[in-house]
Amino acid sequence: MNVIRKPSWFIPEREATSEAAFMNRRSLLAAMGLGAVAASTPRAYAAAPFADAATHPNYRDAGRKITPETINATYNNFYEFGSHKQILQEAQSLKTDGWTVTLDGLVEQEMKLSTDDLIAKMGLEERVYRHRCVEAWSMVVPWVGFSLSKLVALASPLSNAKYVRFETFLDDEMARGQRQHWYPWPYVESVTIEEASNDLPFMVMGAYGQVLHKQFGAPIRLHLPWKYGFKSIKSITRISFVEERPKGFWEELQAKEYGFWANVNPEVDHPRWAQATERDLETGERIPTQLFNGYGAEVASLYTGKDEEFGDRLWR
Ligand code: MTE
Repeated sequence: MNVIRKPSWFIPEREATSEAAFMNRRSLLAAMGLGAVAASTPRAYAAAPFADAATHPNYRDAGRKITPETINATYNNFYEFGSHKQILQEAQSLKTDGWTVTLDGLVEQEMKLSTDDLIAKMGLEERVYRHRCVEAWSMVVPWVGFSLSKLVALASPLSNAKYVRFETFLDDEMARGQRQHWYPWPYVESVTIEEASNDLPFMVMGAYGQVLHKQFGAPIRLHLPWKYGFKSIKSITRISFVEERPKGFWEELQAKEYGFWANVNPEVDHPRWAQATERDLETGERIPTQLFNGYGAEVASLYTGKDEEFGDRLWR
């Protein structure tokens, strides 16, 4: 018998969205010249042959629909363009032409890659991920991108590289939010090299079958679906392999509220609000929050034996 094991983040397309919306996303991928996305899409992402996904461990999430794009596209955190959710208009000033991403630090050889280089070298696939903000709202998004682990392999980090540090652009002409000098610009985030080498972290270049909207963090952002959304840094220009643990943007501002690990954990409240439930952005319903946002099968092993390091604020 030919058994194809689907990773647990795989929400069957048929469950996650309507057939029409799915077909529409596929044709958009083709229209935007990302036919390669469809062509190179691993079998596990194709819809029709996987209608038997009921056996999949994460099938329980299948009832959760993809959040309509209009909702996601008008409710964003992107402080470079304002410290509120309605940054859609302001974010249109983000200029993505000629964008490059630098890979540097403790690597065999430093590299500067254009977005075209990245697509050509990494390939693209679609993944439907749950996205849970520390502010206790959540959504489900069909991202297009590639596994960060592929980029780690391309960079060939040296053995003393312990963390991967991501940095957003710095340009307060283009992004007026960066004139708010009390924030520690540029936005920085980081993960351990073990986390970065896991299959789940996703470098996102598109959503809903289209090139990434500016407000989503065009042209390339990270999505770490088992961590609170603030770790998922937008509009990345530099990825550095380093030995010392970097301090993230929010950790720098308020370390007691936004720690390095930031793994979704319903049992550890934010100092100012509970994390046990989250508000689905589409329905407004409060739903239970899952440990690791439901991705424990993929990532829980990364944290075994680390309780002491986490201290009383477990996984924060
Ligand atoms: N990346 C940058 N550069 N600037 C930001 O302000 N906000 C973070 C994260 N990445 C942010 C960022 C936060 S707090 C969240 S919840 C998510 O982006 C929001 O992503 P979304 O707007 O796609 O939902």
